[in-house]
Amino acid sequence: MLIEKLICNVARKKNADYLRFTPGESYEVPRPSNAIPRLLYLHVPFCEELCPYCSFNRVVFREDIARAYFKALRKEIGMYRDLGYDFNAVYVGGGTPTVLIDELSETLALARSMFRIREVSVETNPNHLTEPNLAQLKDVGVNRLSVGVQTFDDGLLKAVERYHKYGSGEEITQRLKETMGRFDTLNVDMIFNFPTQTMEMLEHDLDVLMDIAVDQVTFYPLMVSTSTEKLMGRKLGRVDYDRGQDLYRKITEMLHDDYRPSTAWCFSRGDVMIDEYVVNYDEYAGLGSGSIGYLGGSVYSNTFDIPEYVDRLERGEFPVAARKDCGTRERLLYDFLMKLFGITLDLDELTRKHGVNAYRYLLPEITFFRLTGALIKTGPTLTLTPKGQYYWVIMMREFFIAVNNFRDYCRALIKTA
Ligand SMILES: C[S@@+](CC[C@H](N)C(=O)[O-])C[C@H]1O[C@@H](n2cnc3c(N)ncnc32)[C@H](O)[C@@H]1O
Ligand code: SF4
Repeated sequence: MLIEKLICNVARKKNADYLRFTPGESYEVPRPSNAIPRLLYLHVPFCEELCPYCSFNRVVFREDIARAYFKALRKEIGMYRDLGYDFNAVYVGGGTPTVLIDELSETLALARSMFRIREVSVETNPNHLTEPNLAQLKDVGVNRLSVGVQTFDDGLLKAVERYHKYGSGEEITQRLKETMGRFDTLNVDMIFNFPTQTMEMLEHDLDVLMDIAVDQVTFYPLMVSTSTEKLMGRKLGRVDYDRGQDLYRKITEMLHDDYRPSTAWCFSRGDVMIDEYVVNYDEYAGLGSGSIGYLGGSVYSNTFDIPEYVDRLERGEFPVAARKDCGTRERLLYDFLMKLFGITLDLDELTRKHGVNAYRYLLPEITFFRLTGALIKTGPTLTLTPKGQYYWVIMMREFFIAVNNFRDYCRALIKTA
């Protein structure tokens, strides 16, 4: 437990340092300097209703605003093309990208006409798994559909205010069964460690997932950022992070025979799956309000202010509002965290990529995690042990919380502006 606490505290501090970049007026996006595979991330922040535990970048849906937003998003895509970018994959995240399926289709069709895109991944919610929506998503080339479920337990669904929006555990199961086989990958997003979630509830969730035999399951540990802490505490109770390891062990044990870990919290059946883009792509552009991108060794964040986002694109300006240039050690640490989140890391590859001896630069981190039994080193390859997988869950949880806190900080600036 002590080591987990230490890892959590260090990750908290380091992640906050990473994201200590001051939002300014406006920044340019660099031209691509080489032809490496890149991912295009598109953010659609609208949701019909907001869930109380969620601290991601989302707002309540309004059709007029959302239509203007999608138009701006398409303009931004064109600006990246004009700068000389090409992308191999597109990931549309939210919010709920499928709130306006016609706008989403038009946007995906545009991206596919401009870039050599081979993979399309889209997030959605169970109420949008209707026949016309699925047909349209298939039509615009969606390979991976990711559905937010969180739990199949009706009591918990009610507590997290999703039951009345997306139906009972049984109804969601039915919809997922009908969707199975329509896309290359059907992913289901779940959350573990809700305060009132018992081990029995988690076992039931796992039983249902295995009965549906979904292609991929992502089990996020509950993340509570500063802004959701109070609301969460009032509605669901206080989160006990110390329970996390036992719940995570249950997940890995029950999925062990049929699934392999694609990342520390994403489990896939079979071989050909599209996994988390932060692991598979060295660079990604973040488009849409509040999106964060990583290009040419710098982190970029677009403005969180939706009207400002739309205005700036109408004027033909990039909506980038914050930027941080990372030094060599920061870039190496970022790769160390992200690549090992995908279970293995090749130190030779990292050395070639950064032009410095990766092993020497990362010696303190590698030594620490080897001593704690989290990492195995075989030649130039580092591999996470089962214990290490849970440490990486903690570190990525803290990374996402830091990103969410950064978002809250930027949103607060909008309010006071
Ligand atoms: C940000 S949502 C976007 C897609 C869709 N709106 C949905 O609800 O699934 C993607 C996933 O993030 C996860 N998520 C949201 N808030 C979270 C939190 N506070 N802690 C852990 N995971 C969270 C949920 O599993 C959710 O399905
Ligand atoms: S969990 Fe999904 S549906 Fe709920 S508020 Fe967050 S983004 Fe919206």
